[in-house]
Amino acid sequence: MTSPTAPCLKDSPNWLYLLREFDALYRHGSAGGSAAIRAHRKRVRDRLSAVMTQNPDLVARDNAAKPVTAHLPRALDLGERAAMQGMARALREVKEDLTWEYGYERMPKALSRKYAYCEILGPKGPVQCADLILGFVLFAPGTTYPQHSHQEIEESYISVSGAWSENNAAVFAPGSLILNRSGDEHRITTGDLDPCLLAYAWTGPPERLQNPDMKLTAKRKPKTG
Ligand SMILES: [Fe+2]
Repeated sequence: MTSPTAPCLKDSPNWLYLLREFDALYRHGSAGGSAAIRAHRKRVRDRLSAVMTQNPDLVARDNAAKPVTAHLPRALDLGERAAMQGMARALREVKEDLTWEYGYERMPKALSRKYAYCEILGPKGPVQCADLILGFVLFAPGTTYPQHSHQEIEESYISVSGAWSENNAAVFAPGSLILNRSGDEHRITTGDLDPCLLAYAWTGPPERLQNPDMKLTAKRKPKTG
C-alpha cells in the first residue's frame, strides 16, 4: 500500500534509474568465464528484478555525511569520464539523500577520515530488500582498508572511479568486477592521487544481511584498566 508521504519506487525516478544502472551492470556485463561470478551476477539480478517488480514504498533515512564524502564530487567527476559514466551520473542525482556510514563498532581513527559506505537497497532501505544489499563505498586517496571477511555474505565490487588493488593481486580500473566469497579475507589499497568509488552488491541470508557483524580481522590488544 502506498501512503502519500512514502513514494513508491516507480514514483522516485532518481532511485529507479540508479537501480536500472545496477541491473544493466549485472545483466549485460561479462563474467569473464568464471562460473562463480556468473552465478553471483544471476543472484544479484534475480533479487533486484524481484524488488523492481514489487515496487516497494521507499523508507525515509536521514542523510548523513562522513569526512570522506568531501571527496565524492571528485570521484563522480572522474567516474563521469570513464567506463561507468551512467552509474556516476545516476548517483550524482541522489547524492544529497545518501546515508554515509562506517558499519564497524570499532572504527580505527585514521580509517574514519578516509572511508564510508552508503546503501541504496537493503533491509534498511531506502529501497527495501531482505536478501540483497546494493550500495557504494568511497575511499580517499592513499587509503588502506584493513583485512576483513564476511561470513555467509558474498560480495562483489565494481569500480566506478579511481584505481585500487585487493590483496596486492592487481590494479582495478572502472568497470572491473571483483568477487569475494563468504569468508574470503581481503584488504584494499587505493591510488595516491584520486579518490576511489566502488559500487557493491551483497547477497546472503536475510538474518545475516540484517546484522552483518562487520569486524576487521587485525587483532587488537585487549584494553586494561
Ligand atoms: Fe569487504
